[in-house]
Amino acid sequence: MSFIYITRAVPEATTAFLAEALPDARVEVNPEDRNLNRAELIQQASGCDALICTLADTLDASLIEDLGPQLKVIAIYAVGYNNIDLEAAKNRGIAVCNTPDVLTDATAEIAVGLALACARRFIEGDTLTRQGRFNGWAPMFHRGQGVYGKTVGVVGAGRIGKRFAATMKHGFGCPILYHSRTDHVDWENDLDAKLVDLGELLERSDFVSLHCPLTPDTRHLIDAEMLKRMKATAVLINTARGPVVDETALVQTLREKRIAAAGLDVFENEPALAPGLSELDNVVLLPHVGSATFEVRDEMGRMCARAVTAVLTGKEPEHRVV
Ligand code: GLV
Ligand code: GLV
Repeated sequence: MSFIYITRAVPEATTAFLAEALPDARVEVNPEDRNLNRAELIQQASGCDALICTLADTLDASLIEDLGPQLKVIAIYAVGYNNIDLEAAKNRGIAVCNTPDVLTDATAEIAVGLALACARRFIEGDTLTRQGRFNGWAPMFHRGQGVYGKTVGVVGAGRIGKRFAATMKHGFGCPILYHSRTDHVDWENDLDAKLVDLGELLERSDFVSLHCPLTPDTRHLIDAEMLKRMKATAVLINTARGPVVDETALVQTLREKRIAAAGLDVFENEPALAPGLSELDNVVLLPHVGSATFEVRDEMGRMCARAVTAVLTGKEPEHRVV
């Protein structure tokens, strides 16, 4: 009998799928809806054949070892998998699967929302209106940056970045620049996008949106030096991973108003915020909700369950990372 452990409460679609596909399996879900620490995770999950985890679980080599030699598959309830030691999993013959594609639209729409909210100052406007500080229409009041026709720079040429770029191009007539290690003919053909180096992208873009995975190469990709290259009127959007931006340097940049605003759905030391960040008016903060729609979270759960089912029944899973 297989043992499947799920590290956080998940939509019922996940466990319903497993109950039907693997009726004999023992499925255990972390009974408390909070992240487990290392000792708790080992205590509850060791001996499992399949682990469904989240991006908040640090699956390093020693933890993977502690879960036991029977572990065959780790399915992460996310598209990003920087918290998993892939080498260690691979060496032990463990399949690692993620949930790409289904969250592309949802995450791109959060990036578009952040672009609008920052440029037109939605949150500041909402706050002052609620507080009774709206004293009537005035020509000089609450001006922001327009969006139509502005230059959009996308860092990382994956699916989410492309969907964001397409929305900005087709919805708002924005010319697209992108930065990636290689050129992508489809970006050029579909979006008339131009591949540029990161410095040029930062210098020319009115909106800079980050869509790269977190790797040793992208950690602090946007540091104090790179922030200095952005326009004073530009907006920075991060829906990818917090550590891609040096958050302390970003706080300083925003405080000195060296860029117009930032829209963040992810943070460097999530869920903690860099000191001073929450005191700034020119930042919009979301609690890592890129994929957080009812439909998408159901489908992500089914994808994890499908991956686990495939591996435990000797089949090749879809969306295998290693
Ligand atoms: C969320 O951040 C994900 O990687 O799916
Ligand atoms: C990952 O970056 C994705 O776009 O799915």
